[in-house]
Amino acid sequence: MNDKEPSGDGKLQFIKEETERLEKEGLLFKVKTIESAQGSWIVVDGRRVLNLCSNNYLGFANHPRLKEAAQKAIAEFGVGPAAVRAIAGTTVLHHQLEEKLARFKRVEAVISFQSGFNSNVATIPALVGKEDLIFSDELNHASIIDGCRLSGAPTIRFDHCNPRSLEQQVQANFADCGKRRALIITDGVFSMDGDIAPLTPLVELAERYRAMIMVDDAHGEGVLGEAGRGAVDHFHLHGRVDVEIGTLSKAFGVVGGFVAGKKLIIDHLRHKGRPFLFSSAVTPADAAACIAAVDILESSGDLVDRLWSNTHYFKQRISRAGFDIGRSETPITPVMLGEARTAQEFSRRLFDEGVFAVAIGFPTVPLGKARIRVMISAAHSEADLDFGVEKFIKVAGDLRLI
Ligand SMILES: Cc1ncc(COP(=O)(O)O)c(C=O)c1O
Repeated sequence: MNDKEPSGDGKLQFIKEETERLEKEGLLFKVKTIESAQGSWIVVDGRRVLNLCSNNYLGFANHPRLKEAAQKAIAEFGVGPAAVRAIAGTTVLHHQLEEKLARFKRVEAVISFQSGFNSNVATIPALVGKEDLIFSDELNHASIIDGCRLSGAPTIRFDHCNPRSLEQQVQANFADCGKRRALIITDGVFSMDGDIAPLTPLVELAERYRAMIMVDDAHGEGVLGEAGRGAVDHFHLHGRVDVEIGTLSKAFGVVGGFVAGKKLIIDHLRHKGRPFLFSSAVTPADAAACIAAVDILESSGDLVDRLWSNTHYFKQRISRAGFDIGRSETPITPVMLGEARTAQEFSRRLFDEGVFAVAIGFPTVPLGKARIRVMISAAHSEADLDFGVEKFIKVAGDLRLI
């Protein structure tokens, strides 16, 4: 051990260097601590602030009916799943949730997982292997990228939301490939920009080239389509998308993920989806709360309507104030600021003004495209949104950005 390594940690020097680099580039972030229930106003690090960055689209994270369902499930089933789904972790509530979601999504079948991330990681390797090909939108979510890597299949990226680019890649790489399988993957709604994938031409292309198609609709569930049935419903493509990935942690307000689609694929995942086989199930309370969320959505689209009216209200006002909100078409509203340092400073000052909205930088978004990603919720009032816009204007003025 030498002077430079008082704790014998010289082998971990690379972590210190990486941390210093991130700090220098403004990419090191400190995670804030939430000290209250989710809602439009929350307590963060001891301060009550307007919440503009949760994925709690419909306000379900602290909804009385979901809480009551979870409490009842705890009373009846206890707190833990005690096993993976494939052994002793599947309760009647997990089955009920899957059946309910299948009816809601208008698909043949659904299988639920512990998260949206796990749902991607379970599904992609179950559909393609190293002999096959994946065509993936260049801005697809990290969990899709990891699922592609795990599958071992060569992954060809196509230009963002560009069916022509996809077709060129398919023609160049797949058209005459005999027995190889191909899987086209896209987000339904892109999580950092809030734009919607052009699903109709993508599905037509998949049909023309006999490729499978998968849509990750983590940010479309509860947001797009009739009463929040998602992007596939929005484009009237029922039965033409092989498999959809959903999350129960955003609009549904709880935690978990699911895969919805053709029964053949869903049954296959019960044997091949590794997180189903090797990682414990979500708790009965989670499943019960999600069932209550679907019940509410099935009985009324009011919250979804409210989410959209809030979205239009905020977007109109923030754009009118001179902010660039990129290509957003959904409640995800990126306020583009460029350099990561600027976005971090902006977020810090917003917090000082009573608004919680985190900065997002590389590698979550490309270098030079840092932003504050505002997430609108049905739980916000118009007065909340006015307060948010007013503070964005103030901070931009203080920083001489507008
Ligand atoms: C497009 C997309 N897919 C998957 C996920 C992962 O979902 P979960 O948080 O349920 O793991 C996210 C969440 O950030 C997402 O935005």
